[in-house]
Amino acid sequence: MKLKTLLTLLITAAFSTQVAFAAEEDSALAKEMKTMNKSLRTLKRQIADPAKKEDNLALLATIKKTIEASHKLDPAKIKDVPEAERAAYKQKYNAQLDDLDKTFDEVAAALKAGNEGDAKKAFDKLTEQKEKGHKDFGADDE
Ligand code: HEM
Repeated sequence: MKLKTLLTLLITAAFSTQVAFAAEEDSALAKEMKTMNKSLRTLKRQIADPAKKEDNLALLATIKKTIEASHKLDPAKIKDVPEAERAAYKQKYNAQLDDLDKTFDEVAAALKAGNEGDAKKAFDKLTEQKEKGHKDFGADDE
């Protein structure tokens, strides 16, 4: 009987921990980033397919919107930055998003010109910008 109670307790505890994790909501910024990530993955997969050109341009438009929305949001880690340094922190964050946006323009230009080599170069740059952005602004990388 005692063992059964103990097991029930353990199972309940494990289950509630899982529920607690699942209930942890994404920040508004994380949601934008996830949308960007998903669109970028599809774009990378099909950029060389001429039949997908319109679809790819639409993906780029979605991505541009996520960057625009991200500008208006704060990274969650801003709460750990001293009040006096927050404006500079946000400015630096916005500047890195601007750089990212420009690189997506390079992807769009390469796509329109049908230049796969340039698209590949721009994708590599995006990866670097993402890594730097995540390091500087405390995102946990996937
Ligand atoms: C190709 C470029 C990028 C991609 C694909 C990308 C993707 C992602 C993904 C998938 C997440 C995780 C969301 C989650 O599971 O919680 C994330 C989080 C985050 N990213 Fe990006 N990211 C990119 C560039 C950047 C840049 C340039 C910055 C900064 C200027 C940035 C700042 C952040 C921050 C701060 C978070 C954490 C969310 C929060 O603080 O609320 N990311 N990103």
